[in-house]
Amino acid sequence: MSAIIEVNDLTKRYKNAKEPAVNCVNFTVEDGEFFAFLGPNGAGKTTTISILTTTLAKTSGIVRISGFDAEKEARKVREKVGIIFQKPSLDPSLSAEENIRFHACLYGMCGYRPGFKLMPAAYRNRVMELAEIVGIKDVLFKPVKKLSGGMQRKLEIIRSLIHTPQVLFLDEPTQGLDAVSRRSLWDYINNVRKRNGTTVFLTTHYIDEAENVDKVCVINRGKITACCPPEEMKKSLLRQELILNAEDRGSLATELSELGLSYTLDGYFIVPYQGLSAQQIIARLNTRLTILKIHEPSLEDAYVEFLNKTGGKAE
Ligand SMILES: Nc1ncnc2c1ncn2[C@@H]1O[C@H](COP(=O)(O)OP(=O)(O)OP(=O)(O)O)[C@@H](O)[C@H]1O
Ligand SMILES: [Mg+2]
Repeated sequence: MSAIIEVNDLTKRYKNAKEPAVNCVNFTVEDGEFFAFLGPNGAGKTTTISILTTTLAKTSGIVRISGFDAEKEARKVREKVGIIFQKPSLDPSLSAEENIRFHACLYGMCGYRPGFKLMPAAYRNRVMELAEIVGIKDVLFKPVKKLSGGMQRKLEIIRSLIHTPQVLFLDEPTQGLDAVSRRSLWDYINNVRKRNGTTVFLTTHYIDEAENVDKVCVINRGKITACCPPEEMKKSLLRQELILNAEDRGSLATELSELGLSYTLDGYFIVPYQGLSAQQIIARLNTRLTILKIHEPSLEDAYVEFLNKTGGKAE
């Protein structure tokens, strides 16, 4: 794999701000990677995405997307990226399809024509295909202001994908969506990833959405504080725990002590472990167990603990 996003010493200082919003940040994203950029409110996520997608000028540093300099070769970079902005960015006075058409024309996919039927067949087929998949075919020619929030988000997804970008930036893509829409949107994005090998750069406050990513970078007050696969974040920060109970609690307590394991009692035995695996511990216990649970930490558990430890706040 090769890096499709390269960020070196990136800094952004807004006018009159006391501290930089993004402060000497370094990271890379590999081609085809599913990458999560997590951090509390105001951490610098949208600022970073805006610079990477060429909609905001940096103060210093170097950003390269697919080998192109995001400042000097902005046009090339724009062809490579698709973005779903954190804030809604549709024109409510146009129809859903007109919003897509406008975008497609900006991307040079085709000259603008005053009507869907006058547009090239390749454009029409792609719009219909995408609208069918995300489930907004019925409202495609309705004014955007008549669409629900979820439908508008789906429309933004179609718009971001119309030019088949190599890198898809999703800035809180599912904010405000109901559970069903959220799931169907993710099914679709995962499909795009698999089918086209699209690199996905995600920011979200729903940490469960980042559970299956390849790499997580945590940004806090403009600085990157961790960058690793989710499994590593879980391993390095959280103790694994076994939850056990037995009719003969005395025997269980003795055996745990003999294995050098400490525990706390809360109706049952809560046994933090490191070194030995859960299976190895269980195999060495002769006491008959009445409760056996292995507590598997979620990425959200690890993330919240990480922010607490590093002085950030969890949102
Ligand atoms: N246009 C702007 N002018 C001045 N300051 C800004 C501007 N946009 C953002 N900031 C400041 O920069 C910092 C980073 O903001 P940014 O929007 O990048 O955070 P974020 O991580 O995306 O937060 P959220 O999770 O709330 O979306 C914040 O302190 C914010 O107040
Ligand atoms: Mg943001």
